[in-house]
Amino acid sequence: MTTASLTDIMILFTFLIPIVRHFQTTANSGVSNDKIRLVALSMGGKIAFVICAFAITISLSLTGIFGSYFYIEFLIEDFCCLTASTWCTADSQPSSATTSQTGSLKRPALNQPARPQLAAVRRMSVQVSHGGQQSHHSEETEDGLVPACVTPRLSCKIATAIASSNPLANSDSEILGKRYPRDSKTNVTENITSKTSRRLHLQLNHPINILKRRIEAHFSNYKVVDSLNPVVSTQQNFDSLLFTDDHPGRAVTDTYYVDSNTVLRTHTSAHQSEVLKTRAADAYLLTADVYRRDEIDVSHYPVFHQMEGLRTFDRKNLEAEAAVHVTGTSIEGAVLSATNPVQSAHTPREAELVDLHLRHSLEGMVRDLFREEKELQIRWIEAYFPFTSPSWEMEVLYRGSWLELLGCGVIQQKIMDEANNADRVGWAFGLGLERIAMVMFDIPDIRLFWSTDKRFISQFASGEIVKFQPFSKYPACYKDISFWCGEGFHDNDFAEIVRDVAGDMAEDVKLIDKFVHPKTKRVSRCFRINYRSMERTCTNEEIDKIQDELRSVTESRLGVELR
Ligand code: PHE
Repeated sequence: MTTASLTDIMILFTFLIPIVRHFQTTANSGVSNDKIRLVALSMGGKIAFVICAFAITISLSLTGIFGSYFYIEFLIEDFCCLTASTWCTADSQPSSATTSQTGSLKRPALNQPARPQLAAVRRMSVQVSHGGQQSHHSEETEDGLVPACVTPRLSCKIATAIASSNPLANSDSEILGKRYPRDSKTNVTENITSKTSRRLHLQLNHPINILKRRIEAHFSNYKVVDSLNPVVSTQQNFDSLLFTDDHPGRAVTDTYYVDSNTVLRTHTSAHQSEVLKTRAADAYLLTADVYRRDEIDVSHYPVFHQMEGLRTFDRKNLEAEAAVHVTGTSIEGAVLSATNPVQSAHTPREAELVDLHLRHSLEGMVRDLFREEKELQIRWIEAYFPFTSPSWEMEVLYRGSWLELLGCGVIQQKIMDEANNADRVGWAFGLGLERIAMVMFDIPDIRLFWSTDKRFISQFASGEIVKFQPFSKYPACYKDISFWCGEGFHDNDFAEIVRDVAGDMAEDVKLIDKFVHPKTKRVSRCFRINYRSMERTCTNEEIDKIQDELRSVTESRLGVELR
């Protein structure tokens, strides 16, 4: 408003000054009647001119006043949205079910139907064969591609604001003894950073460690890499792997940002380029803790463990180095297609050799792991990862349902070239250790891996794959929380607060109701939190206290209106 009014006053003065001057000059010189008439005429013109100017000025002022009003209102609204403290009229943010994990960064969701992911997993006709049995699976295409532009501009800003609005906003984050200044994109919390020192894969006879060693024993001549720092650059985690700038995997709702250019690795592939560059080994197994923002339930935890396998071959000696016999395996019938293409940098024969070697090696490893399952059925599902082509996901039929075990593919030659490996071709795979360990050890809840309870850890002292004997389950306690939420609200932001406030006491969090107010269009969500300790029975008062704290933190951090 101020800007507009000042302009108006200046315009007014521009017109008034010549008139005042005119009166001054006519008063000072003794003029005749004719002259007065002339002057009067010219005065009339000037007065008409001034009236017009006034009219324009007034309308400009009005526009200015209203314009300024809307402008100020817009500023306030934008500010409120940024601080996430305003109510919004629409719910345009996709739920975590569609965006929470990008396919290329799939996380191990045990026995859950594959959620639509960025990796468009195309289920197609794949010949499956095992033990002489041949079956033909034909399922329809399940294209889980999330449009890159799905999040509107404002929602992105809000998400950033929400994600970074935590109590540590002004202090540095400390990760493995090193301090990292926070910035506008930071969304790691202490609850998460405190997990970086646990390194369950290195804890002797922890189920994750037992499984890791099993796979390492199978690929006995692969170099073992298992102690790399989880703090990596966005260049390592995304750019070096050819992720586009708008890839949903980069979203603050899915990834823990240490600062704008630094993340907690979301997958072990983040180290591909750096390890390839060293040319220290033609084959390696890299195990590490990886971090993803996600929902809360018995098979999701913000930290889990992945193992990445990678193997390269001399392009000139490929026929000899990569030769495998695939007759009688599930690989035989799988065909490459236009949607899962051979790279233009590879000859069809090169791609075929590397692809067959990859799947043959993985099939051998999985049959070895599940050696008790004599008739284990395996199938290959066409997949998409930005850093491999062709790409696959392997599934095994386990206790009646298909379980996705790993993602893999032929490494994009551009990555090989940029890592000084232009003379070589290779493959890579990545598997989630928790997901496999949960079925192999019969572990029903992913939180148990983090338990320090002797009754859990002592069960695996032999270092063998044994079935977990559950100790009694303590009673559950359900509490609901509902609130009006703003645009840009993401379920993962709420999950993060539950993790912060309740820690591992939260067994799962479910969205049980979502309601759009018919008039105001405000959106209300109701979440049900299932509190249950794995170690003891909790008192009602204890849970009430946590719930109260959750209510106030949710209100202050997310700027929602509690109901
Ligand atoms: N990094 C991928 C993921 O986390 C898995 C993968 C690894 C896929 C290597 C292909 C090759 O989902």
